[in-house]
Amino acid sequence: MAQIKIAIAGTGNCASFLLQAAEFYRNNMNHSIPGVLWPTIAGYHVSDIVPVAAFDVDSQKVGKDLSEAVSHADTINTERIAELPHYGVEVMKAPVLDGIGSVLGNFVEVDKKSPVDVAKELEQSGADMLISYLPVGSYEATRYFADCALKAGCGFINCIPEFISSDPVWAQKFKDAGLPIIGDDIKGQLGASVLSRTLVKLFADRGGKVERMYQLNFGGNTDFINLLERSRLKYKKISKTETVQSQLLSRLEDENIHIGPSDYVPWLRSRKIAHIRIEGRTFGNVPIYIDAKLDVEDKSVSAGVVIDAIRCCKLALDREIGGPLLSISAYTMKSPPQQFPDVLAKQMTEEFIRGERER
Ligand SMILES: NC(=O)c1ccc[n+]([C@@H]2O[C@H](COP(=O)([O-])OP(=O)(O)OC[C@H]3O[C@@H](n4cnc5c(N)ncnc54)[C@H](O)[C@@H]3O)[C@@H](O)[C@H]2O)c1
Repeated sequence: MAQIKIAIAGTGNCASFLLQAAEFYRNNMNHSIPGVLWPTIAGYHVSDIVPVAAFDVDSQKVGKDLSEAVSHADTINTERIAELPHYGVEVMKAPVLDGIGSVLGNFVEVDKKSPVDVAKELEQSGADMLISYLPVGSYEATRYFADCALKAGCGFINCIPEFISSDPVWAQKFKDAGLPIIGDDIKGQLGASVLSRTLVKLFADRGGKVERMYQLNFGGNTDFINLLERSRLKYKKISKTETVQSQLLSRLEDENIHIGPSDYVPWLRSRKIAHIRIEGRTFGNVPIYIDAKLDVEDKSVSAGVVIDAIRCCKLALDREIGGPLLSISAYTMKSPPQQFPDVLAKQMTEEFIRGERER
């Protein structure tokens, strides 16, 4: 089976776990894999994913082999599940733009080299697709990398809360270029968003009424450091709130729904804790309260769904389908172009994989 050549923008904790997972499963070809749809999708296995280009701005990563950058930089604290081979892929310096905020800037030293021409490097690398793992709040940098993907003829997977796949103007650009796009903002396999969506959907399915809810998240990785800068949070908050609102029978007023990261707790490292409370009514107008607590490795829940997204993006390239992939975006992303209940999104993705659905 052919390789799936990926390029990565932002070689942080998500990238680290994704690459480790590909290595971890290299020798487990026939086992079922928790956290991904199938061990193989149309013949593509997790281990077919090969990095061919990588971009960052951190002086501890730029100029290093990708394997070293995602294993040894001070800001990498994800769970270790596999040793990475030397890829022979040097992390290249990208334009910083708005990638590093004022709080994250206290933890990351920006490399002083001149940035490379990302579109040109992408084209030369032969990458099938570019995956954006930039920090939250990277409005300009996201658009820069999306544009580079278009110029280089690559698919694009937008893992962060910036609206590209779900923006009709950007969606059309990818459609016109005949390149697939999946986005926006990863929805983890069993993360806080999926748990909140499932619980509020349960109210809808069982005839209950949700009156108010919150979801408070804590973690100890750089994502949570970056989120201490509240001004970078705008689209993250919209994305996390709307993904839950979309599963309610009727929208909650803004004052009755609060979803967002609450704090950075260094000793949690790559673990994420989410406290979810839902208050509602059942038959007879009687109150019902649900409290749930999730304690999860933040990167393992996100890497599995991205591994599915990568393989679906490759399928779309093979089938010459451009523009947003609606089914896999709805299954793996918080802010897809169109929201569907998770069970339906999974069915739609299966239809897409079998070739029964165009996108
Ligand atoms: N559960 C999850 O892990 C999850 C879920 C949803 C969304 N996300 C999003 O995925 C993104 C990546 O998360 P992470 O934990 O890997 O973050 P991270 O902080 O570990 O990595 C981000 C990387 O981007 C680099 N960067 C900054 N500016 C850049 C630029 N201009 N060009 C290239 N690289 C640049 C940083 O130096 C860093 O290496 C975040 O936006 C996060 O919110 C993650």
